Amino acid sequence: MANPFVKYSSLITLDRYLRTRQQIDPGLIVTLEQVALAVKRVAHELAGAALKGGFGHSGSINVHGERVEKLDEWSNNVFVDTFSGGGPVCTLISEEMEEPRHARAQCTNDSYALLYDPLDGSSNTDINGALGTIFAVRRRRPGHGEGIEDVLAAGSAQIAAGYALYGPATMLVWTAGDGVNAFVLDRGIGEFVLWQEKIRMPERGKTYAVNQANAARWNPGTRALIERLCGPKAEGGGYSLRYCGAFVGDFHRCLLNGGLFFYPSEVTAGGAPKGKLRLMYEVAPLSMLAEHAGGAGSTGRGRALEVVPERIHERVPVYIGSAEEVALAVKLKVEG
Ligand code: AHG
Ligand code: MN
Ligand code: MN
Repeated sequence: MANPFVKYSSLITLDRYLRTRQQIDPGLIVTLEQVALAVKRVAHELAGAALKGGFGHSGSINVHGERVEKLDEWSNNVFVDTFSGGGPVCTLISEEMEEPRHARAQCTNDSYALLYDPLDGSSNTDINGALGTIFAVRRRRPGHGEGIEDVLAAGSAQIAAGYALYGPATMLVWTAGDGVNAFVLDRGIGEFVLWQEKIRMPERGKTYAVNQANAARWNPGTRALIERLCGPKAEGGGYSLRYCGAFVGDFHRCLLNGGLFFYPSEVTAGGAPKGKLRLMYEVAPLSMLAEHAGGAGSTGRGRALEVVPERIHERVPVYIGSAEEVALAVKLKVEG
């Protein structure tokens, strides 16, 4: 049986969707299309990296003191290359670059900043595990200089945010403020095609995602949360643990099935006092998606989208996913 004929009317490509189903600035349309192009380039590289010796350590250490994998570097270079050829983005802020990159020649009064984690879940690069890209778009203040004071604002200033998930399928999930929309890459035609729009996150889920090996370093409230989730179903427990090592992969599960992801602060000596995840290009973008899908993104004390960063690589504890589980975490004073 030949493939069923897909009518043009049902072939809603990203480009068509942006121009017909969303009321967004033309500059933001261009920016989201540039993100989609960069994501396609990364997806293609990831699919062939094993064959081209693309795995392994690049030899460098990033600003966070973490090993930079070859694919981290490669993915970041794709974004720098894609956004340096003109367009409405004049500023790039990347997990893999210590300082912001400002293309003065691309500055106008309507310029944007793109904040991104080019490859999320780097411990999975060499084992063919889930990987992602996370991004957020913010407006630059007209007449901004070489500084980024105007960008160091709460996540509520984001005008768009999203992620790519490189799994069996490559998916692009984003919001520009009017619903959370998911597109799947049709490799046959090289287009992102609409899969689901205005996704709603279930109020409650059946799974939680955390690196439980760190439990000895957590606040008592965080351990109380684990006890509740692992306790009897009749007392609000009965959850299963699902943790894939990539924030994007664990968040995508929460978006579709409900549930909770958390990366707590670590209060013992030698622990990570603010947890591991970075506010501006991991927690704030996914918190915007969570809220626009009816879920929540919290630092354990308050809305993640209200945290005003002092530095671009600032970390925060994060509890994100279904509204009920995030509310439970806050009620249990997971962050003291
Ligand atoms: P990145 O690869 O961009 O540094 O992000 C990895 C993050 C996040 O994706 C994941 O949830 C978390 O690190 C896993 O951390 P642990 O290995 O400490 O569990
Ligand atoms: Mn990451
Ligand atoms: Mn990364």
